[in-house]
Amino acid sequence: MSGWRWGFLLLVYAALILKTGAVEHGRTQPTERISGSAGDVLEDDPVGRLKVFVYELPSKYNKKILQKDPRCLNHMFAAEIFMHRFLLSSPVRTLNPEEADWFYTPVYTTCDLTPNGLPLPFKSPRMMRSAIQLISSNWPYWNRTEGADHFFVVPHDFGACFHYQEEKAIERGILPLLQRATLVQTFGQRNHVCLNEGSITIPPYAPPQKMQTHLIPEKTPRSIFVYFRGLFYDVGNDPEGGYYARGARAAVWENFKDNPLFDISTEHPTTYYEDMQRAVFCLCPLGWAPWSPRLVEAVIFGCIPVIIADDIVLPFADAIPWEEIGVFLDEKDVPNLDTILTSIPLDVILRKQRLLANPSMKQAMLFPQPAQPGDAFHQVLNGLARKLPHEKSIYLKPGEKILNWTAGPVGDLKPW
Ligand SMILES: *[C@@H]1O[C@H](CO)[C@@H](O)[C@H](O)[C@H]1NC(C)=O
Ligand SMILES: *[C@@H]1O[C@H](CO)[C@@H](O)[C@H](O)[C@H]1NC(C)=O
Repeated sequence: MSGWRWGFLLLVYAALILKTGAVEHGRTQPTERISGSAGDVLEDDPVGRLKVFVYELPSKYNKKILQKDPRCLNHMFAAEIFMHRFLLSSPVRTLNPEEADWFYTPVYTTCDLTPNGLPLPFKSPRMMRSAIQLISSNWPYWNRTEGADHFFVVPHDFGACFHYQEEKAIERGILPLLQRATLVQTFGQRNHVCLNEGSITIPPYAPPQKMQTHLIPEKTPRSIFVYFRGLFYDVGNDPEGGYYARGARAAVWENFKDNPLFDISTEHPTTYYEDMQRAVFCLCPLGWAPWSPRLVEAVIFGCIPVIIADDIVLPFADAIPWEEIGVFLDEKDVPNLDTILTSIPLDVILRKQRLLANPSMKQAMLFPQPAQPGDAFHQVLNGLARKLPHEKSIYLKPGEKILNWTAGPVGDLKPW
């Protein structure tokens, strides 16, 4: 590390601590209002703006699957289960499908876990297909639009492409029967076959209570400049190291493992959450893993997320001004990460920190039990409400068919 940069950094620290000190004379931490591209919508109340009909399916599509493996409640794709529970008791639920704006099918497609707890999506297409067959033959609403007023929660790696390897996911594409539906998914990347326009990108599930127990006093100085814990190489699946997170993580390690500004390691300390609250910048080298909980954690702990993931579509991007809160870095610029971060003016850093301190921002990242106003459940509903009213053109003429029930891999057509 060159001398001038060290000197600069010390100046930054001094200034940060001074400024933070000055700020703390006020009684509450100042926050800044959040306005997304859709306006100031994070605190919107969806009640009264949409009605959702929840199909009642045999329990083999949801409850029974969960009974078989309760670990599904804790993994990062658990939103599919919690969203179901939330809707059942939500005031936006209607028992009268005739007055519904949206139809929801509670099917837990990511709850088939390996012994290690990783979701296997191999049965998901057949299961989904079976559920759609059931709703389309027992109720008239699916056939009316072939799913265009239906939404599905598909939080798996590549959403409704239902595969964890990108190449295979792309080859499969979005399940043909879901082409017209609105997909609520953690996967978000522009110009990718696994992201349909009009989808709602959500954060991955991260356990709210667990994070809350690790909160430290807000005034704790942020004495770590850049923080990251996690894998740099996926040795098991990718011994060459070039592919994991599209190489962004490997580049971070190669360039900055010995840089004193960077507190990065594969070791996951017990003080992980506390450390994030002591850091100015938290790396989110998401690469092909946009569902990584790191972004959620950074927001919850007020650490400015440094997002290294070209073309990513971040959660609720029409409501949350990610550009103002985080730092976006092209994957090819990772080698200049130190210069880029140390060149950010202090007032810009402080403004980002104030935006992050806004409780509505944190709330939007979480799926708490019970639900709370402004949480991620409500953001999903707000997103659905903003898509209303439906265009008349979604309603098919009598006898009109658009979906092809026999398209896709032959294996997907087997009964579930
Ligand atoms: C919906 O259309 C399918 C054929 O595409 C048909 O088998 C099914 O019975 C229809 N559902 C209803 C409720 O009429
Ligand atoms: C539906 O898809 C199958 C399999 O790809 C194809 O053979 C068939 O021609 C398609 N049907 C229509 C009506 O496009």
